[in-house]
Amino acid sequence: MSNRDKLVIFDTTLRDGEQSPGATMSVKEKIELALLLEQLNVDVIEAGFAMASEGDFKAVSEVGKVIKNTRVCCLARAKERDIDAAVAALLPAPLKRLHTFIATSDIHMKYKLNMTRNTVLETAVQSVRYARRFVDDVEFSVEDGGRSDPDFLAQVIERVISAGARTINIPDTVGYCVPHSFGQFIGSIIEKVSNADQAIFSVHCHNDLGLATANSLAAIEHGARQVECTINGLGERAGNAALEEIVMAVNTRQDLFPFDIAVDPQHLVALSKKVSQVTGFAVQPNKAIVGRNAFAHEAGIHQDGILKHRETYEIMRAEDVGWYGQQIVLGKHSGRNAFATRMRLLGYEFDSHQQLDQAFAQFKQQADRGERLDDVFLTSLGDALRVPMARV
Ligand code: KIV
Ligand code: ZN
Repeated sequence: MSNRDKLVIFDTTLRDGEQSPGATMSVKEKIELALLLEQLNVDVIEAGFAMASEGDFKAVSEVGKVIKNTRVCCLARAKERDIDAAVAALLPAPLKRLHTFIATSDIHMKYKLNMTRNTVLETAVQSVRYARRFVDDVEFSVEDGGRSDPDFLAQVIERVISAGARTINIPDTVGYCVPHSFGQFIGSIIEKVSNADQAIFSVHCHNDLGLATANSLAAIEHGARQVECTINGLGERAGNAALEEIVMAVNTRQDLFPFDIAVDPQHLVALSKKVSQVTGFAVQPNKAIVGRNAFAHEAGIHQDGILKHRETYEIMRAEDVGWYGQQIVLGKHSGRNAFATRMRLLGYEFDSHQQLDQAFAQFKQQADRGERLDDVFLTSLGDALRVPMARV
């Protein structure tokens, strides 16, 4: 067994991701995505916020019925009735986590909660104690942690760990933090908390300043061992840290982040496409890792370098994250079956012979013109013809 630290990947595409305006997911879609997330091998799937709606309750419960090997998590405010709903929704899940939270920044406590520091502290402790009566794995979040007073934060965290929280999540709820100081902030909190060794510290960064991934990585450097993130960086407002960016940054820069990650990156592209299809949110072509241009080289100097020695311009291999261009090489003479198979590997499943014929004809025309038949072309063809995404 490795004695390196493990980095826990907590996916919240189905909860915070779904909070993106316009990204509502049906129960069926959440189940399909959860199965893909299980295949990706994330450590935790946050499936919803049971108290928020009947649909969310059902989603958590149905996801808990089909997911066998991954921990399923449900969010709850620090209130008994929220925790009761989360406990009930999690009943079918063989591996479960209850995630409860309360805001700790002065601005949230004063204007949103209308509560004193002391009341927030006692509410946090009571909620964790209450949740632990039903679930062993309890995570506690200090909402707006990034703007909270560090001494108060340390006090709350110490008390909730004593009450039984096993993961402590410090969110940058409003995406206000910047990497250098956020990393130091997380490190200083861990140092201040006398029982810090009894919990895993986590971060949950929003992307309002485009810094969610950078902030998460800075926190890992200072002791965080769980990152909350979403596929394609989906999430409230400007979104969350993108799972694919965190995973590939850690995999690619093992010299800086020597941690074990369970995630299998080969499924990243297919999941990204599925999330995009379910939400209707297109992935920008130049999006890191999963954008269709992420591995496409246009400049002559770059192409020349790549042909001479791949690593001149590539820091990752496209096929390692699920782009299949290198594995089934298509050409002018390729048949319909090879074409359909490669499209399937890219996540596209033709729903009729007619649709396949139409796509194949366009593929042949491209081949006859001697133009490129790579993943960039194939995904634009699949998207243009609205070919459905493959099911699990
Ligand atoms: O952004 C946030 O603070 C959250 C918490 C509920 C974890 O989503
Ligand atoms: Zn959030």
